[in-house]
Amino acid sequence: MGVGIIGIGHYAPDNIVTNADLEKIVDTTDEWIRTRTGIEERRIAKDDEDSSDMALIAAEKALKSAGKTAEEIDLILVATVTPDKSFPSVACMIQDRLGATNAAAMDLAAACAGFMYGVITGQQFIEAGAYKNVLVVGVDKLSKITDWTDRNTCVLLGDGAGAAVLSSVSEGNGILSFELGASGKGGPHLLQKDDGFLYMNGREVFKFAVRQMPESCMNVVEKAGLKKEDVDFLVPHQANIRIMEAARQRIGIDEDKMATTIKYYGNNSSASIPIALSQSIEDGKIKDGDVVVLVGFGGGLTWGAVALRWGK
Ligand code: ACO
Repeated sequence: MGVGIIGIGHYAPDNIVTNADLEKIVDTTDEWIRTRTGIEERRIAKDDEDSSDMALIAAEKALKSAGKTAEEIDLILVATVTPDKSFPSVACMIQDRLGATNAAAMDLAAACAGFMYGVITGQQFIEAGAYKNVLVVGVDKLSKITDWTDRNTCVLLGDGAGAAVLSSVSEGNGILSFELGASGKGGPHLLQKDDGFLYMNGREVFKFAVRQMPESCMNVVEKAGLKKEDVDFLVPHQANIRIMEAARQRIGIDEDKMATTIKYYGNNSSASIPIALSQSIEDGKIKDGDVVVLVGFGGGLTWGAVALRWGK
């Protein structure tokens, strides 16, 4: 038996903030944002909508798509760097609201690579025989740590949540290989400052990401005993279209074989990959048997990639 994703769902707030809206609050242009990042608009949560609220909706959708009840979930892992509070964890909050009374629950933080860390942590529990069904959520409300006077960062970010249910799947399907990594030395390039706001050295993060994302993609393809020609679909972290393109070109697949939600959502941090994967499933771009590569990087610095064969 393998371990795979048997259900997935996502949620983004209704409130759309366009590049034109941002032109009114910082010294920027729609043209600059579109050409440098690929972003046209992003979703921003209301003040009274926190990470746990978004996580709950995505989780409910994932459970429905998996055909599992909340009581069947053994473990809830929530990847987030913007929990409602440090404790109780978002995982405990949604455990209660879902009625997942049999589940252990914890948050984990690996910034934009958080969902990858969550999926692989969940996979280990299932492979070890400890748990049957693990709910993994990636959620962030970056807008609450965004400095809306800093054009270097505020144009890039958006709020949202994505969730997946992991369970055993038929032999040959599910997770084929993974890579997780971290470089604490790069921490100062992307961090939450003492004033609470997000700081990013865009150039340094860009350099790291255009090297790491393509390399991680190739590593998981090789570890799975595959060739890059075997990859059917790529779901990269949605930070910058130019970084995503570097990964796509290294794998050598067509543009329509890469998930690109960045145009409408911007960078959703931990939620980017599950939102992009869920959207791609909804759009019918991934079918059973497809080899899918998920790859992300983020503050820490952290990175993670997974090669999987879609299907139960
Ligand atoms: N509008 C207009 N000009 C801007 C804006 C803006 N919104 N933001 C920055 N600029 C300016 C800069 O100030 C700079 O001006 P200067 O040359 O006078 O100093 C100029 O544009 C060019 O800056 P660069 O950094 O060279 O621009 P670049 O083409 O590299 O794009 C960007 C900047 C988009 C930030 C890019 O470096 C990038 O995508 N970096 C990686 C971001 C990322 O992946 N973050 C990940 C994680 S975020 C998270 O984890 C939560």
